[in-house]
Amino acid sequence: MARTADDSWDIATSVGATAVMVALARAAETASADPLIRDQFAEPLVSTPALDGVREQVTAWWAGAEDDDPDGAVRAQEMINYQAVRTHFFDAYFAAAAAAGIRQAVIVAAGLDSRAYRLDWPAGTTVYEIDLPKVLEYKAETLAGSTPIAVRRPVPVDLRHDWPKALREAGYDASQPTAWLAEGLLPFLPAAAQEALFVSIDALSASGSRVAVENFGVDVDKRREAEERWAELKAKREARGQDTSFNPFDLWFEDEGRPDCGEWFATHGWTVQTVNAREEATRLGREPQNDDRPFANTFITATRG
Ligand SMILES: C[S@@+](CC[C@H](N)C(=O)[O-])C[C@H]1O[C@@H](n2cnc3c(N)ncnc32)[C@H](O)[C@@H]1O
Repeated sequence: MARTADDSWDIATSVGATAVMVALARAAETASADPLIRDQFAEPLVSTPALDGVREQVTAWWAGAEDDDPDGAVRAQEMINYQAVRTHFFDAYFAAAAAAGIRQAVIVAAGLDSRAYRLDWPAGTTVYEIDLPKVLEYKAETLAGSTPIAVRRPVPVDLRHDWPKALREAGYDASQPTAWLAEGLLPFLPAAAQEALFVSIDALSASGSRVAVENFGVDVDKRREAEERWAELKAKREARGQDTSFNPFDLWFEDEGRPDCGEWFATHGWTVQTVNAREEATRLGREPQNDDRPFANTFITATRG
């Protein structure tokens, strides 16, 4: 594993590059013939010269195949489908929270999420975005010519540190109901930081608050098989002198001791709903991910009464 307790990154390195990976999928979906979601900011965010090398690496990892191998195109499309379905789900979550009168949102590990700029937020909504300083700086600089629809408050802090303090200092009001989102995050946090994240969300949530979490159900055997496929491809690419340093599995903390996210919130008095990502894909007319993928993800939403 390539992680240390207090490691740090920018948008082009380590965990930062995973934000590029998912934004690349949103850009591809947006440019497709019949897109499920429209993220017009994804393309400019991933197209800067600073990300030239990262784009090549992450698309190679995604596909898990040589550039001219048809399996690679199929696998890349699976990834795009999954990201489209997940974005669609959490976009709808925020729309429902806004319709219920919530005017404060916190996107933890926001990465290149452009929801503050592209969702139809009611007037008076504030969106707090938590991520590492350089990741948030990159997004603000790249989108400098665009105006967010909500009031956007960046909160540059590591989620392994005292992020509630930083959030409060950025203006967060714990007396108001909030819609929280943790999308594409949990495996990148140590188990203790995940627990602390949930404890703080619980403590900072007024009555009527909501939370949404992408829960990663990892199949250890399938993950090993995916790693083996990648190792073969990596060796070939390295022999050609290509950079293969990007591998999200290297960036994951192990799952040991992690509670089920839905159960955690249910135990703490939230009303929880769980949506299976494959079933959601089918509902939306998208091919669910192939069985050999190492994930059986769920989308958890919960409401505090
Ligand atoms: C896969 S990306 C997901 C980004 C965004 N949520 C999305 O779905 O587009 C993971 C993000 O988590 C952020 N992240 C991971 N660990 C973090 C930590 N300890 N503190 C702050 N941000 C973190 C990374 O910087 C990166 O932007």
